[in-house]
Amino acid sequence: MNSTSRMYDVGGVLLPRPFKARRLGHFALWHTDLDMARRLYVDVLGFRHTDTVVRDGKPVAVFTSHGTDHHSLAAIHAATAEGVRKAHYENGVLVNQISFQVGTLEEVANAYDYFAQRQVTISRLGRDFPGSNWALYVLDPDGHRIEFYYGMEQIGWDRRSKPAAAYVRAVRDGFTLPQPAEMTEIMTSEESGIDLASGFRPSEELPYDYCVGGVMLQRPFKVTKIGPVHLFVSDVGQSERFYTELLGLAQTEEVVCRGHRCVFLRCGADHHCVGLFPVALRAELGLKPSSTLMSIGVAVATYTQLRDAIAFLEKKGLRFIDTIPFELHPGIDYAAHAIGPDGHLIELYHAMEQIGWDGRPRPAAQRRRAQAQWPQTLEAVPDTYADQTLQGPLG
Ligand SMILES: [Fe+2]
Repeated sequence: MNSTSRMYDVGGVLLPRPFKARRLGHFALWHTDLDMARRLYVDVLGFRHTDTVVRDGKPVAVFTSHGTDHHSLAAIHAATAEGVRKAHYENGVLVNQISFQVGTLEEVANAYDYFAQRQVTISRLGRDFPGSNWALYVLDPDGHRIEFYYGMEQIGWDRRSKPAAAYVRAVRDGFTLPQPAEMTEIMTSEESGIDLASGFRPSEELPYDYCVGGVMLQRPFKVTKIGPVHLFVSDVGQSERFYTELLGLAQTEEVVCRGHRCVFLRCGADHHCVGLFPVALRAELGLKPSSTLMSIGVAVATYTQLRDAIAFLEKKGLRFIDTIPFELHPGIDYAAHAIGPDGHLIELYHAMEQIGWDGRPRPAAQRRRAQAQWPQTLEAVPDTYADQTLQGPLG
């Protein structure tokens, strides 16, 4: 697993790997009940339904999004898991994929050679629909699938996804460069008579009853970011080396919780997008014994929305627990943990500490600690509202 000292030209800048993870763009989980997953993600949490993949008359994948990406959270039917991935799923790997956007298609292609030379298990190199993104998938030491992708379909003002008739140039195993621009594909589809406005658009059945910052929405909050993903791993040191030395994530912070070393990793300015925890901690936290997924993170736009979201979600039947120690969400002051349908947690929060040019997190002693009784308002901190804001309207 040792990195070589070779440097790679990535857009004219020399990096130790031929790619750079820019952001956590989406993740997907295996589910056995896609209807239940859609109700939770779409009806309850407010992700927009963007597509359903049907095979032999049965839905096998539900895609949802909180922004303009075609998907940021997807549910894939566990019955479609095959081979080694099926074995990992049966061993508790509920993560179908954790997916990082890179800057160019070239980075995806070059990552293939990089991982192949380092004997990393490569799951696939190709291009999938829906979503249209080009992707390389590798497996981490515990079987969690990590994706590096380029070119996610963007959904615009009319909320229509790309029609299936315009799914051109799907690629199963490998591709050459260069590839045509998406606009070239769009023009080709148009010239062949495809109605580009015929793609899926979700029905909006819930009433718009909640005033959120001056706009009437269907719930009193808006999800504006996904992540972090927290994983239980069999060997924290081994996984840390995989995610830092091979994938290029940076270690922001490590903490010791009840004698266990836990590691928090980042790919951008957010304090962390991945957390690694030893499996021994799982039982001590009272979490489902068979799953390697501790939590998926979901950020809402403001602290007020976070408070309102908790009350709303409790009414919708989600159960919150308060047994997750503060040190297990460094960089997040006020967090709420709801129990998801498969035993993993949904970590709701409103803001994450931003890491600056010197790569150093705020000293733990200088962090705001959540009070037992959440106050009505918070004092601002230097990185309040400093991260990338959601583009476009809230609803
Ligand atoms: Fe993906």
